[in-house]
Formats: sequence, structure tokens, C-alpha cells
Amino acid sequence: MLHIHRLTSVDEVDRQAAGPLISALQRRPDTVLGLATGGTPIGLYRELIAAYTRGEISFAQAVTFNLDEYIGLSSEHPQSYRYYMEQNLFAHIDLPRERAFLPNGATSDLALACERYEQQLESYGYPDVQVLGIGHNGHIAFNEPADELQADTHVVQLTDTTIAANARFFTNPQEVPRQAITMGIASIMKAKTIVLIAKGSDKAAIIREALFGPIRTQCPASLLQLHPDLHVFVDSEAGSELP
Ligand code: F6R
Repeated sequence: MLHIHRLTSVDEVDRQAAGPLISALQRRPDTVLGLATGGTPIGLYRELIAAYTRGEISFAQAVTFNLDEYIGLSSEHPQSYRYYMEQNLFAHIDLPRERAFLPNGATSDLALACERYEQQLESYGYPDVQVLGIGHNGHIAFNEPADELQADTHVVQLTDTTIAANARFFTNPQEVPRQAITMGIASIMKAKTIVLIAKGSDKAAIIREALFGPIRTQCPASLLQLHPDLHVFVDSEAGSELP
């Protein structure tokens, strides 16, 4: 079932989108959260940190799984997603690092790293709440548009659009990794609740296509239409083309 939350400002999107995560943690301290990186969820993480600082939630028993990680960057590299999570969330809350999972993109045995990540997800029963952003090409996590999509955690070649979009975070565009490990579409769809966030006019067309266009692998986010509990949070710009 699709719930669209159209909000007037980006701040309101951050506040409201944090709601399902905060209430899940309040209901069950050992909640499993699925997390994303990129520009979109930074404000949501700020809201989680604020709720933690106010004593409303604790992550002491929580578990987190990130959607994806670049291949070939060490966890100390400022553009690795592990580093991003430390900066934007982990360093400010009481989450034990042994339960903060990200795919290991710094290993030589990538197939094993993928298999292990899926097993870890399975052993924790997949996320209770999964946060997602959306790429301009309709990707979710790093599941890029293609004729076929992979179900489980796997290695992907990033598309030129994604490399170009992510180049803004690197000093030299040549440094953007060409590969990543990502959770698959089935892994993502196993989350009990999905929180999909889109902000800004540049996401307006793709969010409309994802939610109201045909369900097709060339727009991976369109598969979310099949999810039983999908909450979409958009600001007025990203929501401007929604019916
Ligand atoms: C990040 C991720 C990506 C981003 C998407 C949107 O972990 O998996 O799918 O959510 O590329 O990125 P931003 O938020 O930077 O527009």
C-alpha cells in the first residue's frame, strides 16, 4: 500500500520521514534499520541524532544495514559510505559498531562479501524500516536500470549517469569508483516498511514515473509499487508532478 506524504519544506520532509524510524525504535529497541547514503537522508539523520540527544530514542540494541558501498575505497576514505555514516550518524549516537553493517567493498573476495552480507541480513530478518533515496535514472540503492535485475546483494558496474551524479562528492571525478556492492531488489523489498524520500525539482519526473508509471526493470524504483507498506516523503518541488 502506497502512502504519499507531500510536505511544504525540506525540513518538514526530514522531520516526518524520521517518524517511522523513531517510532519503530520506541516500540522495539532492537529494531533493524536499513540506511541509505547520498544527499537525501542527511536531514533525516540529523533528526535521529536530535531525538537521541533529547533522550527519546536509543540505538544501544538496534541493528543497521546500509544499502551499498563502493568497491576499492577503504573504510577511512572520506567518500566511502562507512565514513559517511560515521560522520552523519554513527559518531553521534550510541549504536554499537558491531551491529552497524555495510557491505565490505575493500576485500579481494567480493563474491564472498556479497554472500555474507545477504546472510547477515537474513539472520536479522531484514530491515523493519528501510530508508531509500532515488536516482535520477530510477535506481534504488545501486540497482541501475537494466533488462534484468538481481535479487540479492551483488556487485554492480555504476552507470555513467550515476558516476557523474556522484562526482560532486569527489575532488577529482576520475576518483569516483566504477563499481559498488549493493543490496538487490528482493533484499530491499523484504523490508517491512519502506521510507522513500525525494527532494527538489530534479527528482519530480522520476518520482512520478516510479510511483505511477509502468512497473519495469528499466525503472528499478517502480518495483516499489509492489511493496505492501511504502511511505513516500516529498517536498513541494519533488512532488510537483504527482497526480
Ligand atoms: C545511496 C543510494 C542511492 C541514492 C540515490 C540518490 O546509498 O543507494 O541510491 O539514494 O543515488 O542520491 P541523492 O540522495 O544524493 O540524490
